[in-house]
Amino acid sequence: MDWGMKNRLSRIIKPETGKTVMLAVDHGYFLGPTSGLEKPSKTVEPLLPYADSLMLTRGVLRTSVNANVNVPIVLRVSGGNSIVGEDLSNEAITVSIKDAIRLNAAAVAVSIYVGSKYEHQTLKNLADLIDQAEDYGIPVLAVTAVGKEMARDARYLSLACRIAAELGAHFVKTYYCEDFKAVVESCPVPVVIAGGKKVSEMDALKLADNAISEGAVGVDMGRNIFQSTNPVGMIKAVRAIVHDNVPAAKAYDIFKSSKNKK
Ligand code: R5P
Repeated sequence: MDWGMKNRLSRIIKPETGKTVMLAVDHGYFLGPTSGLEKPSKTVEPLLPYADSLMLTRGVLRTSVNANVNVPIVLRVSGGNSIVGEDLSNEAITVSIKDAIRLNAAAVAVSIYVGSKYEHQTLKNLADLIDQAEDYGIPVLAVTAVGKEMARDARYLSLACRIAAELGAHFVKTYYCEDFKAVVESCPVPVVIAGGKKVSEMDALKLADNAISEGAVGVDMGRNIFQSTNPVGMIKAVRAIVHDNVPAAKAYDIFKSSKNKK
């Protein structure tokens, strides 16, 4: 791995702990104005001091994030689908590598839909993006999107994560599942988990705790942070789990004791 690639990855996965808290706010690329993200700038600003990186689209980056901020950007570069469209898996690459560089992306992110109608197309998107990003030392995050018909179990997620790694992804984002350890152990690159749909704060913290204990290098969490009654409290609690190995119950105390500035 060349110096630039290593350096960019180390801006995201912190060398001090080997872990990362990524804040995902890219949902609008197919969901439109997602609850809690109606005004992205308002949502993101108070959370930035606690995020190791920000995952978002170029549209929200340009319009809603001050260019003075010193947070590594994980730029979503796949899309072209919508929640009301024909098939969510029908994605293309939506940002050129030139524009990703212009936006000073620390990494680029692309979804793959293993087992879906457009499986081949999305895997090709990943492989093509890696070829382009390698030229400039930019790491690629593969996001294992799960179609409605797919089971989020260790067998399926191991398959999807491993394929992403085999194609050359530098890190992988997937879902937590029963026997998650098997997913991590069969994936030769670092794995982060998505938070998924909003659940109770305690359940989301347990999810993060379990994932870290079973080998994830971190979280790329969105709705369970920005849809919380206290987003700042929630991201602080998640950070304590990820970087300080604080158990979920103690992290919940951090959430509760953090003043709500929503
Ligand atoms: C989904 O495709 C997006 O990449 C989201 O960033 C991802 O699902 C993580 O957000 P959440 O924690 O809300 O699931």
